[in-house]
Amino acid sequence: MEQKLRIRLGQLLSSFSFALDVAENRYYNHSRRTAYIANCIAEEMELDKEDLIDIYYTSLIHDIGMAGYLSRHNVERIHFDKELKRDHCYTGYKILEKLPLKDRMKEYILYHHEEWQGTGPFGLKGEKIPLVCQIISLADYFELFFLRRIEDESYIVNLDQISRWLEANKNKRFNEDICQVFYEVTKKEKFWFDLRSTNIEQALRDIEPGKNVCIDMDDLFKISEAFAMLIDSKSRFTYEHTKGISEIVGNFASYLGYNPIMVKKLVIAANLHDIGKFVIPSEILEKPGKLDYKEFQRIKSHAYYTKLILKQVEGLEDIAEWAGNHHEKLNGTGYPEKLDWQRISREDQIITLADVFQALTEDRPYREGMTPRKAMDIMEDMAGKGDICKEMLSHFKQVVL
Ligand SMILES: [Fe+2]
Ligand SMILES: [Fe+2]
Ligand SMILES: [Fe+2]
Repeated sequence: MEQKLRIRLGQLLSSFSFALDVAENRYYNHSRRTAYIANCIAEEMELDKEDLIDIYYTSLIHDIGMAGYLSRHNVERIHFDKELKRDHCYTGYKILEKLPLKDRMKEYILYHHEEWQGTGPFGLKGEKIPLVCQIISLADYFELFFLRRIEDESYIVNLDQISRWLEANKNKRFNEDICQVFYEVTKKEKFWFDLRSTNIEQALRDIEPGKNVCIDMDDLFKISEAFAMLIDSKSRFTYEHTKGISEIVGNFASYLGYNPIMVKKLVIAANLHDIGKFVIPSEILEKPGKLDYKEFQRIKSHAYYTKLILKQVEGLEDIAEWAGNHHEKLNGTGYPEKLDWQRISREDQIITLADVFQALTEDRPYREGMTPRKAMDIMEDMAGKGDICKEMLSHFKQVVL
């Protein structure tokens, strides 16, 4: 039964793009709006379905190579500075090598900042730039350097303003014909209404091309591994945190006798358990001293976001639970839902135990990692207080010591 796990790729990329977009809270909805705008242009141009699908997926993750940079540079700067542009395009290209997506998407990511007159990071010029990239590039810049600069989100925009913006960029950054097509798009009131943050999610759902494109468990596994790497790269102190946990979860679940499909699903949950960390500013994740109350509350939100992001994808409901509950405690003193033993599943506990053990044994900004024995002593204390289950811990010990 579980072998039939089918996940809609569009939904998955859209929810993960949300994770990338909320990074540092500065970039809200950028990828989703870019996908929407690019799709409107492509539809106006009457491109075929395959192109529409490529544009949609590529736009959603076009800045995937930026995930590790956001803490260090401001988003607009990354879109301006030639070096940074080249870097995040190339990083994105490399990440795509690990994702089970069409090969040409790699190139689309690599060239999403090329400019019509040849002044982009890789110097491609005119028709040499893939059409998909030309469209995404216009949508991307328009989102950041036009839309985002309008203070009032009702977006009552005068068409002259658009004309001027296009006039200033055409034949330089963008192809003249695409500018013309886009101008036609902006005449539709619906376009502007759809872009508002209250409406963008629904608008995107409506226009999603290739709604039936699905991936299976193996592809989901690969995607989760790539995201695990991105999550880990967000902080140099946790650069192997997820990887470590996933390994332990795989071993522990097999030891407990789960079938191979369940083991795989649990490892996927482990890979994604901290996906909500994208939302937390790196300054807080990397703070060397003790966190103050506010900072700790923000840290706590990562588990909430993990569940929120994963729940957006049909078919990931149980994985979302296991991943999102990794900071809950059996005595109800965990976070963020204060669940207790009646509501915490065995699968939740597998992720939790692995997370606690991994956290104790790895170096942190304020202390060095402990030995496995010392970590186990602390976990015994936790079991004594009712945070975690004694019986589960005794099994766990067999796996990690
Ligand atoms: Fe970009
Ligand atoms: Fe972008
Ligand atoms: Fe966590």
